[in-house]
Amino acid sequence: MKGNNDMRRPLVAGNWKMNGTQEGVIELIDGIKSGLDGINVEVLVCPPAIFIGLVGARLEGSKVKLGAQNICQQPESGAFTGELSAAMLTEFGCRYAIIGHSERRHVYGESDKLIAERVAAAVAGNVTPIFCIGELLEERENGTTEQVIAQQLDAVLNLDNGIVLLKETVLAYEPVWAIGTGKTASPEQAQAVHAFIRSHLAKQDEALAAGIKILYGGSVNAANAEKLFGMPDIDGGLIGGASLKVNDFLAVCKAAG
Ligand code: 13P
Repeated sequence: MKGNNDMRRPLVAGNWKMNGTQEGVIELIDGIKSGLDGINVEVLVCPPAIFIGLVGARLEGSKVKLGAQNICQQPESGAFTGELSAAMLTEFGCRYAIIGHSERRHVYGESDKLIAERVAAAVAGNVTPIFCIGELLEERENGTTEQVIAQQLDAVLNLDNGIVLLKETVLAYEPVWAIGTGKTASPEQAQAVHAFIRSHLAKQDEALAAGIKILYGGSVNAANAEKLFGMPDIDGGLIGGASLKVNDFLAVCKAAG
């Protein structure tokens, strides 16, 4: 176990993004379920919201967990067109939600403040946030990666109950330049940022820093997963493209075990 810490049991999460049809989703989930024997990692799938009920029903009795791709900052019902509350997600067996994905930040303009509110609402509603952070290519190139990561983390860390919230959170480091580009961070580049994240958190709370699960995301596939997951501060992955193909996703899960 990484860091001798049971909380850091490897997790492989598939972010299906805006992909799939009813038929395709059933094929994918059935394939994943039937191929997981002997693979000893936590596995999570995050389908498009419209398929959550379908996938949840199909997952009954399986160890595969179900997550959403976002969550509203308001935990109960209300006038929030287009959003889903923690209460709605948990009613359908969804215990995780991706929050602050780079596509939400950069295509839909979600701010650090809104993302922090979403993390807080998820935890309040018994949904584990998969809180995503990561730098743009230009930020890496101008040497501000650590500054950007620290600022994104601080949006939650500096809330009154920030440490408590992060103790219920999974982090995902996804360098934006590596998402969907086929360009992966090298294991050493990813490890360096994961170690930085822990050192930044450790300034506030050492137990939090040692125990928090940090996933890597960005063009993870069957060929590069094992080296990435072998790094000491990487506890699994958040997988986009490769999570849409049964064999590729299973190979990535196997690499995490
Ligand atoms: P890809 O694996 O397709 O690069 O996507 C990564 C991602 O954004 C997962 O959330």
